[in-house]
Amino acid sequence: MTDMHDFYSDTKTKPTMAMRESVLQAVVGDEQKDEDPTTLALCERVAALLGKEAAVFLPSGTMCNEIALRVHTRPGDEVICERSCHIIGFETGGPAAISGVMMHPIDGVNGIFDADQVVRAIRPSSRYMPETRLVCVEQTANMGGGAVWPLEKIRQVAAAAKDAGIATHMDGARLMNAVVKSGVPAKEWAEGFDSCWIDFSKGLGAPVGAVLAGSVDFIARAWRIKQQIGGSMRQSGVLTAMCLYALDHHVERLADDHRLATSIADRIAVMPGIEAVKPVETNIVIFDLSPAAPAADRLVDLLAADGVLTGAFGERRIRVVTHLDVDAAAADALCASLEKHLCGLG
Ligand SMILES: Cc1ncc(COP(=O)(O)O)c(C=O)c1O
Repeated sequence: MTDMHDFYSDTKTKPTMAMRESVLQAVVGDEQKDEDPTTLALCERVAALLGKEAAVFLPSGTMCNEIALRVHTRPGDEVICERSCHIIGFETGGPAAISGVMMHPIDGVNGIFDADQVVRAIRPSSRYMPETRLVCVEQTANMGGGAVWPLEKIRQVAAAAKDAGIATHMDGARLMNAVVKSGVPAKEWAEGFDSCWIDFSKGLGAPVGAVLAGSVDFIARAWRIKQQIGGSMRQSGVLTAMCLYALDHHVERLADDHRLATSIADRIAVMPGIEAVKPVETNIVIFDLSPAAPAADRLVDLLAADGVLTGAFGERRIRVVTHLDVDAAAADALCASLEKHLCGLG
């Protein structure tokens, strides 16, 4: 697999040598006892970055979402989110299994919805209905093609939830991509949200880790769930040192990923057999194949045979993600392979 150009996901990044070396100097201790200075430093830094009182280090973004849902809700409650979001599609039914909640999906445009849709989705007070307890947004919207929420829109959504006394959670797996793209600081994006997290194992290039932030009370309750489900660690400084390294060295360069994704999308858009390419704002390119083209999973196999990994997300939909470990030469290989398999199609 070492010679593959891996566009499947930005989770495929491998830690650079410099990132690995940052671990050697890390001062570590027992995280469960609040004795790991490197992990404490990361949590403080992310809390400040997101404008929150406190933060907790977790092994994955999925655990951030699932713990946040558990803290914000009670069994039988309902959670509003966009239909294509990670929480619904890729967390193995966690909201039902872990929190006993119902999801109320609403249809956005490229993963983005508006305040009116939230207002319409909120349940009236009734003994027959679930209570709407939480609204979740995903910034950037992964299945929306890495779309960045407009600031005004995300503020209106948060305000509509607040007006109705409903909690708010931001899945910020790729929030730093939105920050780099928009120039809007992370704390402004996170402002109206009771909880928010960022992932280190995606575009930021670390092998493991995400940090969930919120009020002191929210994080105290999140810690209890972390402990309960076995997410607490010991000398996690060996992981968080790499996350700190990522914050110092891998944020600004996300702009390179965005440029590469745009150039790939421009090239794909004019190929035969392509029905549509979602607008590219950050590091994700999602395109749909016309009926004349091979099915998505077949084309993914053909590309893989040429040494290029991509993902089929639907019968005719393919996703390509740029990151630290793919460059212009990899993009050329991707486009050449696509052209080869699509040539001659109308
Ligand atoms: C939008 C979004 N949220 C959450 C996650 C889960 O993150 P993790 O892989 O760290 O569990 C992902 C992972 O791809 C994601 O794209």
